Amino acid sequence: MSSTPVTDRQAKTARRPPSKILVDGGDPGETKHIRGLLGFVDGQTTNPTLIAKNPEVARMVKAGQRMSESQEAAEYRKIVQEISPLVGDAGVSIEVFADLNTPAKEMLRQGREMNSWIPNAYIKYPCTAEGLKAAQASVAEGIRVNITLCFSQRQAAAVYAATRGARQPVYVSPFVGRLDDAGQNGMDLIANIKRMFASGDGHVLVLAASIRSLAHLLCSFHYGAELVTVPAKVLEDWSQKGMPLPDASYSYPSAGKAIAWEELDLSRPWESFDIRHELTTKGIQKFVADYRSTLEQAS
Ligand code: G3P
Repeated sequence: MSSTPVTDRQAKTARRPPSKILVDGGDPGETKHIRGLLGFVDGQTTNPTLIAKNPEVARMVKAGQRMSESQEAAEYRKIVQEISPLVGDAGVSIEVFADLNTPAKEMLRQGREMNSWIPNAYIKYPCTAEGLKAAQASVAEGIRVNITLCFSQRQAAAVYAATRGARQPVYVSPFVGRLDDAGQNGMDLIANIKRMFASGDGHVLVLAASIRSLAHLLCSFHYGAELVTVPAKVLEDWSQKGMPLPDASYSYPSAGKAIAWEELDLSRPWESFDIRHELTTKGIQKFVADYRSTLEQAS
């Protein structure tokens, strides 16, 4: 029998979960810390709220310093450039700055620019009509995309239809915790989208987001989300408990109202799906507020 010593890192890597693990954050130091704990990090997601919480950015804001839009973009770029080499093939998601009136053309302009920052970028666009137009144009140019603030099966169907023919995987990010906050069982949305995509061509991957607990993480594995983005504190908890995986008898301890399954035809044009959702609107407003909190003449 071989007595080759197995390092701690190798032992941890051998226990890879069924979903790719992304760190949901805006601090390269945190990503390094999690990589040390788990032995790997597959990817990273960022957004304007998380960038505003980056220690350096938060320190500046606390000291009364504010940035111009171009300084903020330079700071964002520096942060993702530090994170980029720390992660595996799930890449680093970078979010465009969009309010409720930002046209697709402007989102695309930002997306192209952000895509040039690092070789493993996924550009995040909101799940709105303008966001989907920008995503459609992006995939046609070979830019990888992650459609964020997804709160309904219809929105996920529209993402699928708008990005049909993409040459690289497209991510859709359903926000589990915010649906829970609204009294629903957010994990049902993951299950419903996975079931819907089972009859598709596989070009859209489910990235479970707004993960708040170990139960969310384990249930994301259980439902077969291809990726899950997780705050550092939940990953620390998972690591501390020995990186458990759900077994055959796993059941999710849900308290919220069930989200009903809808029979949707993925071959329909994306514009035919009703993609309006109050939580998408609120999510955009929150990102705008957090972004503006770091800017000069914050309003
Ligand atoms: O991955 C999306 C995430 O950053 C939003 O999380 O906890 O603000 O709903 P949360």
